[in-house]
Amino acid sequence: MSLSFEGRVVLVTGAGGGLGKEYALSFAERGALVVVNDLGTDTKGGGKSSAAADKVVEEIRAKGGKAVANYDSVEDGEKLVQAVLDAFGRIDVVVNNAGILRDRSFARTSDLDWDLIQRIHLRGSFLVTRAAWNHMKNQKFGRIIMTASAAGIYGNFGQANYSAAKLGMLGLANTLAIEGRKYNVYCNTIAPVAGSRLTETVMPPDLVAALKPEHVAPLVLWLCHEQCQENGGLFEVGAGWIGKLRWERSRGQIVRKKNKPMSPEGVRDQWDKICDFTDATKPTSVQESLQSIVEVLSSLESEEGVGANLTAVAASPTLGSGVNPSAAVGQKLPPSTFHFTHTQCILYALGVGMSTKDPDHLRFLYEGSEDFSCLPTFGVIVSQASMMDGSLGSVPGLDIDLTRVLHGEQYLELYKPLPTSGSLTSEATVADVLDKGSGAVILLDVNTYSGRELVCYNQFSVFVVGAGGFGGKRTSEKAKAPVPPPKRAPDAVVIDSTTRDQAALYRLSGDWNPLHIDPSFAAMGGFKAPILHGLCSFGFAARHVLKQFANNDPSRFKAIKVRFAKPVMPGQSLQTEMWKEGNRIHIQCKVKETDAVVLAGAYVDLHASEASAEKPTQAGGLQSELVFAEIGRRVKDMGSELVKKVNAVFSWEITKDGKNAAQWTIDLKNGSGSVHRGPFSGKADVTFTVSDEDFMEVVQGKVNPQKAFFAGKLKVRGNIMLSQKLEVILKDHAKL
Ligand code: NAI
Repeated sequence: MSLSFEGRVVLVTGAGGGLGKEYALSFAERGALVVVNDLGTDTKGGGKSSAAADKVVEEIRAKGGKAVANYDSVEDGEKLVQAVLDAFGRIDVVVNNAGILRDRSFARTSDLDWDLIQRIHLRGSFLVTRAAWNHMKNQKFGRIIMTASAAGIYGNFGQANYSAAKLGMLGLANTLAIEGRKYNVYCNTIAPVAGSRLTETVMPPDLVAALKPEHVAPLVLWLCHEQCQENGGLFEVGAGWIGKLRWERSRGQIVRKKNKPMSPEGVRDQWDKICDFTDATKPTSVQESLQSIVEVLSSLESEEGVGANLTAVAASPTLGSGVNPSAAVGQKLPPSTFHFTHTQCILYALGVGMSTKDPDHLRFLYEGSEDFSCLPTFGVIVSQASMMDGSLGSVPGLDIDLTRVLHGEQYLELYKPLPTSGSLTSEATVADVLDKGSGAVILLDVNTYSGRELVCYNQFSVFVVGAGGFGGKRTSEKAKAPVPPPKRAPDAVVIDSTTRDQAALYRLSGDWNPLHIDPSFAAMGGFKAPILHGLCSFGFAARHVLKQFANNDPSRFKAIKVRFAKPVMPGQSLQTEMWKEGNRIHIQCKVKETDAVVLAGAYVDLHASEASAEKPTQAGGLQSELVFAEIGRRVKDMGSELVKKVNAVFSWEITKDGKNAAQWTIDLKNGSGSVHRGPFSGKADVTFTVSDEDFMEVVQGKVNPQKAFFAGKLKVRGNIMLSQKLEVILKDHAKL
């Protein structure tokens, strides 16, 4: 479907020529009501004329579009936005585009050269955007574009004033993206290249002619469309090419030792490591950026350092196979955000064999259906992006050959039905690494969030052929285990055929491994022909259960576990056998033609039909009790190990409705550790005070403990650095 701007009111500043004119024409062509603003200055900001804006408005009107002209300077932001409201009654989009140049080598830059550039670009964008901001917030829709420049990103001779202003606009956009997010007011930044009167003095004429504004405008239109969920992005764009930019940060190096002063010599001696971008991270928020700073304090505090000890990770020896569990476990992959609309949901449903032949599949195939829904197993698609980019291979301690990776098992749990569009962010952590002799198994836990809300949890179990034999453990208490079906005839059997093009269709949902499409690649892996994705059969089996036992109601779906036993060839038929045991439906999936079991030890857990998907809260009781009970069990099982690792006493004061409700002590210092209720006779190393509700939010990973602390929800007395160690117990050992 083409992108329409029907009914949207768009303000483009500096739209009398160049890029702005092209934006105005393009928005109008797609139905927008456009305000064409231009002061009509020369390129240096001198003079004034209404002609430029008038001409563009004439052109729009001649083509049947709707537009009005405005001749205010962006320095009169309030007045300008008021003119938009007077003309069309609302404002949906602001494209901050107006600009001038006053290029001078730095020494010759006058106060006026500096000030004028800051005033028009940075201050002008601020004033116009601020005037539009509350209107956008109140109507819960707004799209803002900031126009930066490569000169700002990289610097450019003779453009000190301009570079500073342009990168200032990026800083402004970064914060607007955060403040506007929850109101559906998104702000993105572009650094365009196009031939215009601003560039004709610096570029050769044929380049000016070749780099057309119409090769930039489509990006601006997409970023300003309601379907686009991009927010806080920075894009370079020109000549029909678009690229996205982000920050990268080296792993860095701790150059200070506990109780010793930090010195410039220490910095000099570690300079290569500080600047080494091997294993670089890509922090995307102040919180992420600060996290590593806090980790440094924490690892300096404890003599030997905790899991977060950056230097220890880098320095620990890797064993023969390239797999080193102590370095890998607990490592996080860079977070990834998956943007989708109903198109991806429908494509996925087709990929796992849904068809319009079946009338009750329409709710998954047609966005206009009354109860249009996303298939629950799409939850693997939203999270797999976090590992599809190969970042697993760059985790310290996982020096593995990505071509030898097989998908062994999958667990997916949903905490609420998936939305049919939006942006979901996934955070992946290496939960454990097992040594199976012939290979290594990596357990990757992926939590996927919408904003702060946890939407689903996946555990990918990845088998790396030939990476075993490093002397690691064979099993893990963190693994979601497969469960064999009951030994009786199944309660239901569904047979469904895959098509010859099933894998070719399924891969469009994001798993681009050539094994599933390229015959020569499949041959290298020892297969006669490209094989079907294991997760495609997984999708088939899950929807068979959903239809058979839950009336195709996605809100009944809670979780699914499968082990991938054998490959399926596209075109073969899948036979799903199902056994109902309470709310658990055991499944086994076979290829009908060969009787080979392809999904083993599998089950789907459903919510009881009348119960809502929400977890019941205990009447009157404290939710945190369950958590402490669970931690108590873990401490019983592995107390000595934890005492060795943590060596501290944590005291908790849990409040309810503002009053003290319970006190708990987690003693990981004395004997083999214990958890008990009531006051602690000795001295706690650190005491936390938190409400029952906030405690649950933190434990469930909905709120980051540091954020809770900074927001005053979590109070800490004693050795605050120990809270890092607490994460080891809460996060790694109590997946609650
Ligand atoms: P342009 O000179 O053709 O367009 C800028 C327009 O802004 C002009 O029509 C001018 O009258 C208007 N303007 C100047 N001061 C104003 C004010 N105070 N209030 C309202 N309007 C005002 O230049 P072009 O190339 O189309 O540039 C558009 C934007 O893109 C500018 O912000 C520029 O810095 C930026 N940019 C352009 C690049 C390019 O390759 N063309 C490269 C990087 C950034």
